[in-house]
Amino acid sequence: MKVVHTIEELRDQLRGQNRTSFVPTMGNLHEGHLALMKLAHQHGDPVVASIFVNRLQFGPNEDFDKYPRTLQDDIDKLQKQNHVYVLFAPNERELYPEPQNYRVSPPHDLGDILEGEFRPGFFVGVTTVVLKLFSCVQPKVAVFGKKDYQQLMIVRNMCRQFALPTEVVPHETVRNGDGLALSSRNRYLSEPERKEAPRLYRLLNEVKDRIRAGEHDSVRVEHDAQRELAAAGWKVDYVSVRRQRDLKAPERAEVEAGEPLVVLAAAKLGPTRLIDNLEI
Ligand code: PAJ
Repeated sequence: MKVVHTIEELRDQLRGQNRTSFVPTMGNLHEGHLALMKLAHQHGDPVVASIFVNRLQFGPNEDFDKYPRTLQDDIDKLQKQNHVYVLFAPNERELYPEPQNYRVSPPHDLGDILEGEFRPGFFVGVTTVVLKLFSCVQPKVAVFGKKDYQQLMIVRNMCRQFALPTEVVPHETVRNGDGLALSSRNRYLSEPERKEAPRLYRLLNEVKDRIRAGEHDSVRVEHDAQRELAAAGWKVDYVSVRRQRDLKAPERAEVEAGEPLVVLAAAKLGPTRLIDNLEI
């Protein structure tokens, strides 16, 4: 695996390639990320991964400074796994060469709801950096995790609207044995919090089961789940049942008619904010 830090070196490595598949990350790689690399390898060759902690997608009170930066460890994991041909680890100057930036803003009805409501500017940061990275790598395929369901939808939508030649391929959420979705932020959990954390996924499953069993009042189901989380000491941002196709709230008749749905949740356990979702 070649590790490159500049766009020029990256282009040198990729000259003449037209089946590149790409996995963008912020590093501190875990088995979820590595599963994306594996899927990328099934969809194209060579596989490029990137590691870049993107300041633009962090809010002023978020964990940008604290975000774990473990480049050498990450390189070792990728070397061992042997699916990635080039690792692109640009510095900030390389991706944001000037103090003022062009920005890509997602449509409000996708970018300002759910995560976007609680993390203003987050998706502008994500789409801006993803477009820059796509422009550097020029991938045929890019793999994104369903763990970040709204991000996956927004990146897809951006590719369609800008007619980018990149196909966005989703990967299922990779979980621990107890159901907790793997995340770089899990390392912030204390031992008792780590024991409590799988409740989030259990509740998503309860929401799914109730709707599947014929409970069509999705708002009531959401409220029950929110109450249960709050009672267990979580600070809930949202638990929300949405349509898979556009992340809008479904009408009752649509729930009844079996519209494909997804329940998405974000909540804080102590200082750590966890997100998860489950398709229904
Ligand atoms: P990061 O959080 O590092 O995630 C990189 C990719 O790994 C994303 O597509 C994410 O959905 C996926 N991922 C993370 N945990 C996962 C899990 N448990 N199962 C499956 N996939 C998982 O998402 C970002 O970085 C950034 O926003 C980025 C897209 C790189 C732009 O900066």
